[in-house]
Amino acid sequence: MKEIDWSKLGFHYTEPDYIIRAAYHDGKWEEPYATQDKYLHLHVSATCLQYGQEAFEGLKAFRGVDGKIRIFRWRENAKRMARSAKGLYMAPVPEELFGKAIRMALEKNIDFLPPYETGATLYFRPLLIGTTPRLGVGPGRDFEFIVIPSPIGPYYPGKFHCTTFVVNRHVDRAAPYGTGQFKVGGNYASSFRATEEAHAQGMDCIFLDAKYHRYIDECSAANFIGIRKPSAVSLQPSEIEYLTPRSSAILPSITNDSLMTLARDKGYKVTRRHIRLEELEEMSEAAACGTACVISPIDKVIDPEHDKIYHLSDQPGPVLTDLYHALKDIQYGRTEDRHGWCEVIEN
Ligand SMILES: Cc1ncc(COP(=O)(O)O)c(C=O)c1O
Repeated sequence: MKEIDWSKLGFHYTEPDYIIRAAYHDGKWEEPYATQDKYLHLHVSATCLQYGQEAFEGLKAFRGVDGKIRIFRWRENAKRMARSAKGLYMAPVPEELFGKAIRMALEKNIDFLPPYETGATLYFRPLLIGTTPRLGVGPGRDFEFIVIPSPIGPYYPGKFHCTTFVVNRHVDRAAPYGTGQFKVGGNYASSFRATEEAHAQGMDCIFLDAKYHRYIDECSAANFIGIRKPSAVSLQPSEIEYLTPRSSAILPSITNDSLMTLARDKGYKVTRRHIRLEELEEMSEAAACGTACVISPIDKVIDPEHDKIYHLSDQPGPVLTDLYHALKDIQYGRTEDRHGWCEVIEN
């Protein structure tokens, strides 16, 4: 076990011992291998550098309450990376190769897997890049798949708390039917102007749909969830509605998919549709959701251009807090994994 103060890690890169690499040439993927070299010997005209032919993923492994290791829903990440690859005209990484590389990254860096009590996890960043040198605009034929592991700290080292979001209308993250549905670097570079501006004010930002600026698309690098209840004290689960945007420009979040399943299990109504910004008035709780935070509850949403503040709840609300714990309990092996989401590794 490494001498690391797990509680102080945050979401920062900690150099692992090994990364995993596999190259694609002449229509074939080679076997993945582990290397301590964290640098690439890359041609200056590689398509990833020239034309942004790059996709990535993010997933976690957890040390459970029973001492076993759980990798959460890696097959979904493999499928999403394959969709991103097709979206950018790259060779998809076969699912079995993806899984093998993740397991290798875990085994070769097992000392970086944080102990259960710390709330820290081992994060994996799979990366796919185009490596063919090209001057003329067009896709490459050679690719490199890399898995970079790094331990990360608990998202909430203190109390589970809320964040304020600000509505952004001057930067569009992704166009309808553009690359927003894929996890590609370009989407993030294009949103930095908006996210950094929000962070400078101690907030996070909400992107609206790029066509009308009317519907909620995403929360920074996370999906949006809203909870609607007919009254403050709702008695029937079926009266609770879990709302999340339907949009061709947002990333299909694996966390959101998992939370929707858990919400259905609890008897809530789950609705995916266009959500107008003004509908925040009718919500009792809202949150951003993603692998890093699971759920990041929202206390208020500020719309500066319309001089409007939508108040949600000052403290994380009961429905989202319950869903947050339900998902974390599965990831840490504290409850039955009824949907078979975790690959369990005895170690
Ligand atoms: C733009 C964007 N939306 C949503 C998500 C949440 O996706 P997931 O739950 O699969 O981490 C992420 C994080 O990966 C993201 O970058």
